[in-house]
Amino acid sequence: MRAVGTVHSGYVIGAIDARLYGSFVEHLGRAVYSGIYEPDHPTADANGMRQDVIDLVRELDVPVVRYPGGNFVSAYNWEDGIGPREQRPVRLDLAWHSSESNHVGIHEFADWAEAVGTDMMLAVNLGSRGLDQARAFLEYVNHPGGSYWSDLRRKNGREEPWGVKMWCLGNEMDGPWQIGQKTADEYGRLAFETAKAMRALDKSIELVVCGSSSPKMPTYPAWEATVLDYTYDSVDFISLHMYFDNHQGDTASYLAQNARLDDYIATIAGVITFTKAKKRSKKDVYISFDEWNVWYHSRDADRQVLEGNDGWPHAPALLEDIYNFEDVLQVGCILNTFIRRADVVKVGCLAQLVNVIAPIMTVPGGPAWRQTTYYPYLFASHYGRGKALQLALDCPGYATDFADNIAYLDVSAVETEADGALTLFIVNRNQTETIDLDLALEGFGSRNVVMDKVIEGHGLRDTNGPNQEPVAPKDGTGAEVKDDRIRAAIAPLSYRMIRLGR
Ligand code: AHR
Repeated sequence: MRAVGTVHSGYVIGAIDARLYGSFVEHLGRAVYSGIYEPDHPTADANGMRQDVIDLVRELDVPVVRYPGGNFVSAYNWEDGIGPREQRPVRLDLAWHSSESNHVGIHEFADWAEAVGTDMMLAVNLGSRGLDQARAFLEYVNHPGGSYWSDLRRKNGREEPWGVKMWCLGNEMDGPWQIGQKTADEYGRLAFETAKAMRALDKSIELVVCGSSSPKMPTYPAWEATVLDYTYDSVDFISLHMYFDNHQGDTASYLAQNARLDDYIATIAGVITFTKAKKRSKKDVYISFDEWNVWYHSRDADRQVLEGNDGWPHAPALLEDIYNFEDVLQVGCILNTFIRRADVVKVGCLAQLVNVIAPIMTVPGGPAWRQTTYYPYLFASHYGRGKALQLALDCPGYATDFADNIAYLDVSAVETEADGALTLFIVNRNQTETIDLDLALEGFGSRNVVMDKVIEGHGLRDTNGPNQEPVAPKDGTGAEVKDDRIRAAIAPLSYRMIRLGR
């Protein structure tokens, strides 16, 4: 089987915002407690943060991390997490039926963010609370001093403001599971007023308004049209969320699901364009895809805690999906979709980062380890920054019940500013056949293969664990550039990244 096409350095889809490769840490399960924070762990730093986790996050080079939720934020009092630790209240977290010790709050998270070299993206509670607490939190975090909340921050040990740029106006406010769920009109008004107050306090911030929590929501996509009608000129991003599953055990259909992601993005891009025209607005609003991942392996295991049968445990194991090789291919396809829509999707957050549907797992008191999906995320984060390029590719495909022609090869192309390298991210969804990729390279000058990494040859259900990580990249072979064409044999069910340098 062959796939023939062209990539041209002048056919630019858009500049990739580095924040496309962000992630998310929620007070949920063991993401924070025994995830990033474990004061008794042998590697714990002076702040009680696990150094082994810090090292893995640094390796991923995560540009931004969303915090503290997620569903958690919709009944969270951020003030519970400031001041002396021993005086902080234990609260019942209604979203995840857990106890929250508040031993980690904004100061501890900010120190951790600094240690891993990432920016914070903070969410305010528009579920159980509203405008007033949102402005207080912003004042605490971003105002230099001389006011009640900023001086309290200084008293609590942080002299300089953190200067957090991105702020989420609540989380998944369309969801019936959300504490303080709202109709689109209720939320649109509240988000508008909150944005007005927050901007009055700090003009430098970027605001993210909630879109649909999934394209399966009955209110999608009218929700976005209504919410943007209220907020278009007051916000910078609309947030979308999507999780992927293979409950049916149907690999072909599972690996085609990024076609649905494509539709979701295209639809909301259309709503944005429509609203911009309706408002006669000059400004653009972009998509912040601030929750996405595979999420299904752990669903049954979580019922006990979520239905309240375990009482209110502190940091129970929740959403601890153990990812397999099939999920590597899925995550590769999702990242490719974001790169191909880099014109409208500017921010992305892999949900989440540690222990909770995460690329990094920890054993309390023991090692931190890399899940299978760590690698496509790592490669995209390292080599997927620059300009997203339009590819023309003629590749055989297959049909699923939701799309007619899913090309077997899912490919994205990025030209990196720093070294001018062209990187191809390739997933072969064909389960039995190698595909000979043959791409004409136009406008790049002379090129060589400078890096070739592949994840292939594993069973679809193969996983990694704390003691061994068999699903990992190795060097690819046989790719070559000749006569301004790159040719490579792409193995069935494989993830491949080929970099062409000068
Ligand atoms: O990431 C897990 C949860 O998924 C988040 O808390 C919520 O926003 C979404 O429904």
